Amino acid sequence: MYKILANTVFLGKDVIYLTECHSTNDEALERLRRREIAEGSIVITDNQTKGRGQRGNIWLSHGGMNITFSLVLQPNFLVPSEQFYLNMIISLSVVELLSDYSKDMKIKWPNDILHLKDGKVGGILIENIINQKGIEHSVIGIGLNINQTSFDIPKVTSLKLLTGQNLDRWEIVRLLVAGIERRYIALKKREFNKIKTEYLSYLYRLGEWSTYSDVGIFEGKINGIDENGKINIEKRDGSQCFYGLKEVAFL
Ligand code: BTN
Repeated sequence: MYKILANTVFLGKDVIYLTECHSTNDEALERLRRREIAEGSIVITDNQTKGRGQRGNIWLSHGGMNITFSLVLQPNFLVPSEQFYLNMIISLSVVELLSDYSKDMKIKWPNDILHLKDGKVGGILIENIINQKGIEHSVIGIGLNINQTSFDIPKVTSLKLLTGQNLDRWEIVRLLVAGIERRYIALKKREFNKIKTEYLSYLYRLGEWSTYSDVGIFEGKINGIDENGKINIEKRDGSQCFYGLKEVAFL
């Protein structure tokens, strides 16, 4: 693994490989609490047995088939209102890489990665350790369905199902980490407009009328996201609504 990730400057220089663990996010968070892990480190496993997803969901992944890893960053150069840009660069790095394998890859706000027709290929769970000054560390958990071909839940797919090929998981990790590093450097240089434009270019349902639910079901059109990462959905009556996580569902 050390050799495999030698294409980056600082991300992935320290790789903690575990044959099995409950959750790479939990492992990274625990090591941060014990001050045993530095920025740029990666925790990766072949068999994640209690993977966690957004909104308290579980993340299921068959052992030895997929990619499940977490990386530790220290984005203390971002003020709270800029923090969604971290989500954006991670989603962008993932969607851009997966687009090299299959077309029609999209980001479903805030950071699900899906194939337009066949469903979800990847998920991202970002967890922050906060101090008085703001974010001290971020743990970026990424799960990608690569070679698994059967799933217990609907609307889920994998790169193998999409391409018909078994893929080299470590090669994908190597490319992904290099892509994240490149965008993280752009983020440090505060290239906010460019990042947002690129994120929007992959955004699922942007500018399309579709069905959503907040307190009731409604027809809406996504117009973009605001500075705090809330999604802007226009209703048929012309009102502009802004939703945070858990406040709106895509139907
Ligand atoms: C989601 O779509 O709900 C987010 C899924 C995130 C899954 C990854 S797999 C590696 C890391 N460890 C976890 O427990 N979760 C994330």
